[in-house]
Amino acid sequence: MLRSRILLDFIAVLLFVSAMAYWAFGNLAHEVIGTVFFALLIAHNVFNQRWYGTVRRVRPDPVRLFNMVIIAAMALSMMILLVTSILISKDVFAAVALNAAFAVRAAHMFVAFWALVFLGVHLGTRWTLVMTIAGRAFGFAKPNLLRAWALWVMVAAVAVKGAFAMREMGIFTRLRFQYALDMWDFNADMIGFFVNYLSIIGLLAALTYYSQRIWRSLPRRIVRGKAQ
Ligand code: HEM
Repeated sequence: MLRSRILLDFIAVLLFVSAMAYWAFGNLAHEVIGTVFFALLIAHNVFNQRWYGTVRRVRPDPVRLFNMVIIAAMALSMMILLVTSILISKDVFAAVALNAAFAVRAAHMFVAFWALVFLGVHLGTRWTLVMTIAGRAFGFAKPNLLRAWALWVMVAAVAVKGAFAMREMGIFTRLRFQYALDMWDFNADMIGFFVNYLSIIGLLAALTYYSQRIWRSLPRRIVRGKAQ
């Protein structure tokens, strides 16, 4: 069950990146991809509904508090994306769409880049679980030094690629709600677009995962800022 859930999560990531490729597939495909993505998100939250029940009961440590803030940011950005997508729809929700203002389209576009950042960070906060399930799925029962190193090299390569891709895709400009002038040429390189966005998500996930690991490994007295 958990394995299928993780598989659905990865399909959701692929759908999200495909939706970012608006000019590659056109409006109808973008709206259909987005609709399937939101259906998966609803399922994802139904599967994880128990977590919401724990929010008020468990006293949050900094790591948990951070996870909560990111989940709230995810929820907010996805809600904005959903509402704005209905307002500006030309195909799937055309019957209920309003002839929405330019500002709504701009909000839809720019919030997508913040949602991308939250997505990468959210994935990083759940990475231990993802790796455990992946390890089981591939039959990796025991730890293996060679495999651990191979994974490290892969993560490092993805992170470096992600750092360059952030620049290439003008992510910092778009996160400031500004238009980036360069447009991706899908005719010249379709795969490069996906590699870039997936490596950006990978970079953010890796940064989050390793920051949380480092934080957790700090001696308690440093974390609390007290000498013991
Ligand atoms: C493409 C989008 C998303 C991806 C790839 C993703 C990924 C994941 C993964 C891998 C897990 C742990 C395994 C699982 O239960 O499936 C998880 C847990 C969770 N996700 Fe997401 N997620 C996404 C979107 C969202 C959104 C939009 C929300 C909230 C509105 C959300 C809320 C949660 C919650 C509450 C949990 C449980 C947290 C916990 O147990 O600590 N996720 N997510």
